[in-house]
This record gives sequence, structure tokens and C-alpha cells, in this order.
Amino acid sequence: MKDKSFCIANWKMYLNNIESINFIKKFIKYDFSLNNNCEIVICPSFTSIPLLIDLIDSNNITLGSQDVSNREKGAFTGEISSTMLEELNCKWSIVGHSERRQLLGESNDMIAEKLKLLYNKSLIKPIFCIGETLDEVQANKTQYILESQIESAMTDLNFNSGKDLLIAYEPVWAIGTGVSADIDTIYKNIKIIKDFIKKFDTKNCNIYLLYGGSVNKDNASEIYSLDEVSGFLIGSVSTDPENFYSIYKQF
Ligand code: PGA
Repeated sequence: MKDKSFCIANWKMYLNNIESINFIKKFIKYDFSLNNNCEIVICPSFTSIPLLIDLIDSNNITLGSQDVSNREKGAFTGEISSTMLEELNCKWSIVGHSERRQLLGESNDMIAEKLKLLYNKSLIKPIFCIGETLDEVQANKTQYILESQIESAMTDLNFNSGKDLLIAYEPVWAIGTGVSADIDTIYKNIKIIKDFIKKFDTKNCNIYLLYGGSVNKDNASEIYSLDEVSGFLIGSVSTDPENFYSIYKQF
């Protein structure tokens, strides 16, 4: 069993309030004493977060948000700050998800601002997502892309804080396709990430590497068998309590 692992649900814009409440009511009935080293993080839509706080009564389950503002406070219409999320008992926030990079135009610079604000100034711990597109794979740029996403976002982090950081390797071409990256590719790219982050002085904090991209109950166990993989960021499959729990059970 690994020292610490993470089973993270990214519900994207899939579940409305009633569906989110129904999920939690069903999910909390399962047995979570099987693995006290595994933290389950549920990242609902912003609007559902306040409705779920009181329903979660297990120490193994925490709440996270799918995004956070790069600003602390002020005239930023539509934004949600890290302190607002702290008020909602969020312990984690996803930063730099590929859907925000690709579909909503988030740049490496904006993601670096978000990560810096979260990591250096807030109580919330980041789930920092990186990954390459199919075009980048075909152009032989995977290593360059992963390293430049890390370089740009992690350079100004204060690792003396001792805070945990999760880095989720999510190949863009595997997200939402139903077919995960194969084990050799995951191993190779996680190793690139692991080697590259050695350049930062992170001895005072824990950095865990996760995989995301079409994780399901049939491929979870093989991917989790890689020593370097401390868990998963799971999209569509995480919206079904039974499927999500069956992945957790494989940790
Ligand atoms: P998926 O999404 O599991 O639906 O591929 C993963 C993610 O986008 O984090």
C-alpha cells in the first residue's frame, strides 16, 4: 500500500444540485475504512459545493473546486476567490485543467498566477494539471510541453511552506475518450515530470503525481501499479457512485 494516495472526482459541468446531493447520499454509505491512506476529493460545480458540506461525514472525503480565480479580491465579475472557497470548506482546487487551457483560453501565465496565489497565500492545496495534445505528441514535443508547463507554473512557489502539491498528468488526447494512455506512455511521461521537478527545492513538501484521462474500473489497477502514480483525477466515471467507489477499492 502507498503512503498516501488520492482518488479525485472532477465532475466538470455534469451534475446539477439534485444529482450532486443524490451522489453523496449514496456514496457516503460505502465503507471507507478499507484504506485510510487514500483521500477522496470531490470537485463539484461551484454552485453545488455549499449543499454538500454537511452531507460529507467521513474523514476520508474532502471537497475541492474545479477552478479558482487568479485574483485575491475586487472587481472581477464572475470570479470565485480562494478565500471564498476556504469559507466553503474546500481543501483543494484544480488549476490548469486542459479544458480551461484549450476551451477557455487559459494561458501558462494565468495558470502560474493561480497556482502561486493558492500555494503561497491560501489554505487550499492545488491539483495542478499538465498534459500534451495529440498534435504535440505527433510533433515530438511532449517533453518540451510538460517541462514548460511545469517551469512556468512552479518557478515562484514557496516550497518552504511545506504544503502538499498534486501534479496530475493528463494527456489531452486521452481525456473523455474512454481510452486511457497505455502504461508505457504513462510511465515515460510521469518519469519526465518526476525528473524535471528535481530542479526545484521541494524537500520540505510532499509532491504527489497523479494520472488522469479515461480512468475507469478496468484500467485503474494497472495504472496504479506504477510506483510513481499516487492516484487519479477522474472525470465522467466519477459521476457514478458505484464506479467511482470501485476505483477507490483498487487502491
Ligand atoms: P475523464 O476526464 O476521466 O472523463 O477522461 C478526466 C479529467 O478531465 O480530469
